[in-house]
Amino acid sequence: MKIFLTGASGLVGAAFARAAERRGHHVVGIVGRFAGELPGVAERRSLDLADEAALTAAVLDVFPDAIVNCAAISEPAVVDSDPAHSHALNVVLPTTLARLAHHLSARCLHISSEQAFDGARPTPYAAGDATSPINLYGRQKLASEQAVQAAAPALAATVRAPLLMGNSPGGKRSTHERLFADWMAGKPAQLYADEFRQPCTGENLAEVLVELCERRELCGVFHWAGAELLSRHALGVAIRGHFKLPPERAPIVAVTRAERPEAAKNRQACLALDISALAGKLKTRPQTLPEQLAELQVPPSARAWYFAS
Ligand SMILES: NC(=O)c1ccc[n+]([C@@H]2O[C@H](COP(=O)([O-])OP(=O)(O)OC[C@H]3O[C@@H](n4cnc5c(N)ncnc54)[C@H](OP(=O)(O)O)[C@@H]3O)[C@@H](O)[C@H]2O)c1
Repeated sequence: MKIFLTGASGLVGAAFARAAERRGHHVVGIVGRFAGELPGVAERRSLDLADEAALTAAVLDVFPDAIVNCAAISEPAVVDSDPAHSHALNVVLPTTLARLAHHLSARCLHISSEQAFDGARPTPYAAGDATSPINLYGRQKLASEQAVQAAAPALAATVRAPLLMGNSPGGKRSTHERLFADWMAGKPAQLYADEFRQPCTGENLAEVLVELCERRELCGVFHWAGAELLSRHALGVAIRGHFKLPPERAPIVAVTRAERPEAAKNRQACLALDISALAGKLKTRPQTLPEQLAELQVPPSARAWYFAS
């Protein structure tokens, strides 16, 4: 099928393009500023996705069978720094794409976030549970999923994703890439010992999205995540162990929410997701932590540092 993919240069979008190509699909990938190579993208277009008229013209020109939205302002701090621009990308863009999908009878996939929840309870959230975002990013993602499902209820699926691991095209986006950036700068990575997440890789999420492209009957809001819940600190220590880095070269300091009460107001303590509804319908399996770690590569910008003795 012909797929109109936004965010083709992002962590998830780049993985989606590779996974879709493996399944024989034709991906028209939309990029913003990224200039590097993107395997799996059959046709590449540069577009400012905040420009609604240009976006609409591009979608109508491609006339896709499926629209997959992996573009976003996906860092809460960046969202806070420019709420209007992030609203355009995080809310207006997915709404417009869903309306276009409805117009074209195209499959429509969107990604939301675990941050639709406040994280105050330790048990897993099901997709139908009451939402309660505590920061602007979470509120924008929640608004986006509601708008997408309202605009194309019989065509759209939205997947709420967890903290993501993996290898991003720019090498700076994902969890281990950020750790390497700290270590290369000579800074200890400060990681919460009492914030719990259920990570999966962008590759694994991309496999889910490709399956969902092919399963048009699966509509609505779903959850996806990895098989294990663990603290950010435990995750960092596991990543350091995977790369066989000694603590003196790759220091990690455990911090707690109580030590940083102001920051904790905008951060969720525990985001566990019940993924059984979607996992029961797909061939793609949730990954264990060792499976996720096995995918991680030394970021290109860290290779000289990493391989120096
Ligand atoms: N990363 C996570 O931990 C995480 C967790 C839960 C949910 N999510 C959600 O998963 C989805 C994918 O996130 P991600 O981490 O893969 O994102 P990402 O790596 O930050 O990539 C964002 C993408 O959006 C594109 N983009 C942003 N502004 C644009 C503009 N004005 N015009 C054109 N393209 C623009 C970027 O293009 P250029 O780089 O080419 O400019 C890039 O391809 C998002 O919906 C995010 O909210 C992410």
